[in-house]
Amino acid sequence: MDDTVTVTVPGRVNVIGEHTDYNGGMVLPAALSVSLQLSLTPRGDNAVILRSTAYDETVTRSLDEAARGDWSDAALGAMREAIAMDMLAGGAEVSVNSAIPAGAGLSSSAALIVAVLKAARAASGIGFSDTEIALAARRVENEYLGVPCGIMDQMAVAAASIGTAMALDTKTLKYRLLHLPKDHELTVLHSGITRQLSEGRYAVRAGECDTAKAYFESDDLCLLGPDAIRDSELAEPARSRALHCATEHARVLAAADALEAGDMQSLGALMNDSHASMRDLFDISLPAIDALVADAAALGAVGARLTGGGFGGCIVALVKSTAREAWLKQLLAKHPKARFIDAAGG
Ligand code: GLA
Repeated sequence: MDDTVTVTVPGRVNVIGEHTDYNGGMVLPAALSVSLQLSLTPRGDNAVILRSTAYDETVTRSLDEAARGDWSDAALGAMREAIAMDMLAGGAEVSVNSAIPAGAGLSSSAALIVAVLKAARAASGIGFSDTEIALAARRVENEYLGVPCGIMDQMAVAAASIGTAMALDTKTLKYRLLHLPKDHELTVLHSGITRQLSEGRYAVRAGECDTAKAYFESDDLCLLGPDAIRDSELAEPARSRALHCATEHARVLAAADALEAGDMQSLGALMNDSHASMRDLFDISLPAIDALVADAAALGAVGARLTGGGFGGCIVALVKSTAREAWLKQLLAKHPKARFIDAAGG
């Protein structure tokens, strides 16, 4: 009997709400149509055979190995977690076909981990919820891969659906799915600059947030009033990082309302403010990305911002559907290293 299981999971773009998901706040990601397909066949022994079409290689690993710093770590970590959750008894053969660019801020790593866990869930018949799968995927990132990320990416790729954005409270894991506009598109462009969360700058920001958490004796920087942070004696850079978290959380709440009301001008203005905060307070942008975002807006986007963990990767721009083609042509002519990835809504 062929007991191969196949699953497809989407990449995600974060509309707004950056670095709030490990600080007690809200996020607003949306599923993309660029996706990852994975097939998994449990084996009778402990061998782990991982095949990736994107990397054009087959890797053999053993279950007791530590992470070694390549793409196969995410899949191996997910298999170890699947075994801990009794969804797999031993090794497996896994084939991955992913169109989600790595290091682009579109959750390629979360997609691979969630896909392995969902395939193992299907193979085992155990009824774990998508939220339980997302939490397990975060454990793989935090504990096996050593990336101190939040829960946004895992929840988005595990439970968001095309055509909607997920207004997610990362403290309670409760969420609402909001319809994306039909006459505007969330256009995702790669800046041409690739980065890896495991390379350390993400962890530095998380550490600066920890300093602010210790000062305020609260894990929920997003729920502090901005004035309490401004009036405090917390030193820089933790002070600016905390101020970003608190103001960004408020922007996500306002953005979810604007999306629900179909108020694209307000949504766009909030995206622009979010970019400024990531640039000036959280310090995760780069001059080339600031220029791309500024030109996206100057050429007619209603709003634009860096999306994802930062230090490279993609921007997301809110553009009127009828204007998108001409807008994109002009923007790419000015930024030849940038490239179109996908559009959500519209
Ligand atoms: C990465 C992390 C997420 C989140 C974003 C920034 O995508 O995996 O948990 O922190 O960066 O918003």
